[in-house]
Amino acid sequence: MSKYITTPIYYVNGEAHIGHAYTTFIADTMARYERLKGEDTFFLTGTDEHGQKIEESAKKAGKPTQEFADEISATFKNLWDEFGISYDKFIRTTDEEHKKGVQKAFEVMYAKGDIYKDFYEGHYCVSCETFFPETQLIDSEFCPDCGRTTSVVKEESYFFRLSNYEEKLLEHYANHPDFIMPRSRANEVVNFVKGGLRDLSVTRTSFSWGVKMPQSIGDDKHVMYVWLDALLNYITALGYGTDKVNGEAREGALGYDAKMNYWPADIHFVGKDILRFHAIYWPAFLMSLDLPLPKHIGAHGWWTRDGEKMSKSKGNVVSPKEVADAYGVENLRYFMLREVPFGQDGDFSQRAFIDRINSELSNDLGNLLNRIIGMSGKYSDFEIDSVDVEKYHSKEIGQMNLILDSLDAFLENLQPHRYLEELWKLFAIGNGVIQEYEPWVKIKNGQKDEALATVAVVANILSKAAVMLHPVMPNTTNIIADALSFEINTASYQELILEKKLLKLFNIKKVPPLFPRIEEPLMQEAPKAEPVTATKKEQSSKKQTKETKKENDNLIEIGQFFETSLKVGTVVEAEEVPKSKKLLKLQVDLGEENLRQVVAGIKEFYSPDDLINTQVCVVANLKPAKLMGMISEGMLLAAKDEDGLCLIRPEKPKKAGTPIG
Ligand code: MSP
Repeated sequence: MSKYITTPIYYVNGEAHIGHAYTTFIADTMARYERLKGEDTFFLTGTDEHGQKIEESAKKAGKPTQEFADEISATFKNLWDEFGISYDKFIRTTDEEHKKGVQKAFEVMYAKGDIYKDFYEGHYCVSCETFFPETQLIDSEFCPDCGRTTSVVKEESYFFRLSNYEEKLLEHYANHPDFIMPRSRANEVVNFVKGGLRDLSVTRTSFSWGVKMPQSIGDDKHVMYVWLDALLNYITALGYGTDKVNGEAREGALGYDAKMNYWPADIHFVGKDILRFHAIYWPAFLMSLDLPLPKHIGAHGWWTRDGEKMSKSKGNVVSPKEVADAYGVENLRYFMLREVPFGQDGDFSQRAFIDRINSELSNDLGNLLNRIIGMSGKYSDFEIDSVDVEKYHSKEIGQMNLILDSLDAFLENLQPHRYLEELWKLFAIGNGVIQEYEPWVKIKNGQKDEALATVAVVANILSKAAVMLHPVMPNTTNIIADALSFEINTASYQELILEKKLLKLFNIKKVPPLFPRIEEPLMQEAPKAEPVTATKKEQSSKKQTKETKKENDNLIEIGQFFETSLKVGTVVEAEEVPKSKKLLKLQVDLGEENLRQVVAGIKEFYSPDDLINTQVCVVANLKPAKLMGMISEGMLLAAKDEDGLCLIRPEKPKKAGTPIG
């Protein structure tokens, strides 16, 4: 079996920050893990270089666009090389092979009737390279995702019939509940699709920095929309449309009409902000190309610094290079993967980072290794023999094996923080066994065999932990393995982890301390956040009341809004709840098989007769709650001021269950 793992391709309008490093670390860890298990793995990363945003950034920098893209793309590649990222291919969307593949894909979709020509008029955000309908704009002008000013664009455009794929997409999500990981993120995608998909404008004429239209179509004032171009990188990297990878012809015909090695991808890692592109547009494009869909889209959360959103204007962006120079890249990998459950937002603070280095890496792991090296030096001239381990430590071996057996599922289910948490239990066993058996006392009492068995069981625990920690900290664990005289590879994974073998007689080597304790922060702290920055949106918020200002400090992503499922419901039955001054009990039709019971605090303002056969707006994905012993399976939207409460209702009758958003 083969594995295909990807990162997003990064825009070349700025240098890498900690968010880019995080996706790359996770993908690298997974790729290394699969290779350790013996899987033939292809790991792709690269840069996204077309579009108006890049064209404008180059202009600002006073450089030809290609030269500008070359320079920034190289900073990403160099950084990943310096960090030892084990990619198999670094793709650039300005690569000739990629451009040919994109043109090929366009032709295939066009020939199928999935692309047609029309006019587009809409509000475009250059920064997000996305069109938004007017209803989604903030103050009719600003981008709902990044807050920047949008501009009205009217141009001739080719459209992709995204609307044709609504049903097929919903079917796919329903049949593949693990398509979007973590599952908690699937709702926002499903609701978005259920809200109706509009055809997608996939070419532009207002700028020229993009993949040209295929000659066969011949409309050369158009260039491809950057997201169509970018998403296709996942297959052009495998030779789609050219049969070539890294300039070389590959065996097994990788062409568009043949089966591609490695495709479908096992997982595309992405940040939550670009989940929609990967979970809606990309599968629709692939369906149009008659190619299988990726198995999983893994969407991670957003990193902040000391609790603040990172931004260039605040000057608080964490540079992964600066952190790695100060603390070591592998410590950073460990911290980022251990600190945050995959899918949730995370915070980078030096304090939290230093705490983990000192307590988990230095104390739990580093000290254990040093103690074993020290003891074996004293008691057996650095020679370790596992011969008596089973006899004296079968209990610890049993505990260790249980943990080892549990680990795989954590990583395969994208829970690196749980994986590491469980892995660390091995060090607790190792440290515990030394404390309990006190080998130095045994040596004094002449029980040398027992003392050496304790040293040996800990060395074995360390060896297995090093194998399993290898994907996260490759170099550090190679040093540990070297100290224990073995190599980490698929063969040792097979023997030590799967077959549960113990190390044979071996010599242990001294190593310098792997994780020196850190007393003081090694980097300058982030500048304190300025309360007001200069974007138009924030300027306008100055004028607003205190309350709306508070809301602006707590702005959410559009995706967060779509996590709430709002639906139109028809009230079928309504009755008073006896003994309650406030509650009415309603049965509401939400277009589902059964009616929903909603217990609402509206009795002072509505009688049951006011409600029966009228429509209401319902929060449909709330966890059921009990009110006066009755289950309530939803909440009604209402507005209340000093004059009383009124329900929010659709202006015109709508089918029960119609999504709102
Ligand atoms: N070029 C597109 C991706 C195309 S993939 C076919 C893009 N590039 S990006 O450079 O803007 O972002 C790349 C990744 O970095 C995204 O997955 C995004 O979520 C991630 N992050 C950007 N800022 C981040 C944080 N502050 N925290 C975590 N990840 C963040 O989007």
